[in-house]
Amino acid sequence: LLFPLLAGIIGYLIGSLSFAVIISRLMGLSDPRSYGSGNPGATNVLRSGNKLAAVLTLLFDALKGYVAVLLVLLFGARFGLGEGSAALVGLTAFLGHLWPLFFRFKGGKGVATAAGVIMALNPLLGVATLATWAIIAYFSRYSSLAALVSAAFAPVYQMMIWGSGPIVGVLIVIGLLLVWRHAENIKKLLKGTESRLGQKAGSAV
Ligand code: G3P
Repeated sequence: LLFPLLAGIIGYLIGSLSFAVIISRLMGLSDPRSYGSGNPGATNVLRSGNKLAAVLTLLFDALKGYVAVLLVLLFGARFGLGEGSAALVGLTAFLGHLWPLFFRFKGGKGVATAAGVIMALNPLLGVATLATWAIIAYFSRYSSLAALVSAAFAPVYQMMIWGSGPIVGVLIVIGLLLVWRHAENIKKLLKGTESRLGQKAGSAV
């Protein structure tokens, strides 16, 4: 039990690196928790008007999920950690993003981190889920809606193509948490007041 626990803690610590805040600080931008949706995530950093900061946030938040899982897949075998442990560590990285140790437990919604986790657990599923996100985002221009739909589809794809297993379980838990974190977005989507991708802070209806 020691090794899975240790791996889970390391995953959580990696996930706790809130890159929206870190990158904004490094680039001298305002704290993303102070404008727009107040969410420390790539979508909200984009509302600062700085595309590079948004892209870097997206990349690094995804990368931390990817790296956390990859570490287990690469080095876990010698400690008795298999695919199930890798999936669970992906979950702890996601939890770290939502409740980061280093940022007073005020984290983001987990979309980019979940994408990185999925990409590492099952690259083909990652591509299918990203494609789902891109299609919905392209046609609706709502980042949140694209995330919600992708979160619902990811466990379904995994289950239908690769069958049930620990990855499906983790995807369902991640999906439920992700939907819960998007409660405000869902309300705004229903009211028609959700801001579209790329709309600057303050210009949202
Ligand atoms: O990545 C989070 C996205 O789905 C919604 O972000 O800032 O519009 O609440 P935001």
